[in-house]
Amino acid sequence: MELEPSIDGQLAAVESYLRAHFPIQGYSLHGPGHWERVKLNGLYLAQKTGADPLVVRLFATFHDCQRVNESTDPGHGARGAQMALSLRSKLPIDDDQMDLLVEACDGHTDICFHDNVTIGTCWDSDRLDLDRVGIRPDPGRLNTEAAKLLASYEWDFRRRLVKPQR
Ligand SMILES: [Fe+2]
Repeated sequence: MELEPSIDGQLAAVESYLRAHFPIQGYSLHGPGHWERVKLNGLYLAQKTGADPLVVRLFATFHDCQRVNESTDPGHGARGAQMALSLRSKLPIDDDQMDLLVEACDGHTDICFHDNVTIGTCWDSDRLDLDRVGIRPDPGRLNTEAAKLLASYEWDFRRRLVKPQR
């Protein structure tokens, strides 16, 4: 992978590399479409929560990039963190941001809450995309007020579209 001069170029190169090396090729519930929605969720939330948008964006790309199946796939978060560490020299972040990225990827499946707002925002941005599999994001399992509000608005809106209320 070439080192791109701009941050956006570096991030795009990393995203492209991870798409090409994603173990589940073809459509995946946890693949690049999901990564893109998590990124959009996360960048929106970061404006409200004060989370670090670079860490949020990288979490979106790395957290599921080493999944090998569509089920629980134990350890996939830790493998995503390892992938981030293996590409450390390509990532436009400092050591503190890298620590956050690794912890966010590593813990995203097994831990619900975190005191660090960037990690909490990362996890919320992932959980807000649960409705792609018909699961309503549970506000009680979200870290940030912004995500709780978005979850209730989004779900009510989509539910009305699918099944109009009488
Ligand atoms: Fe995910």
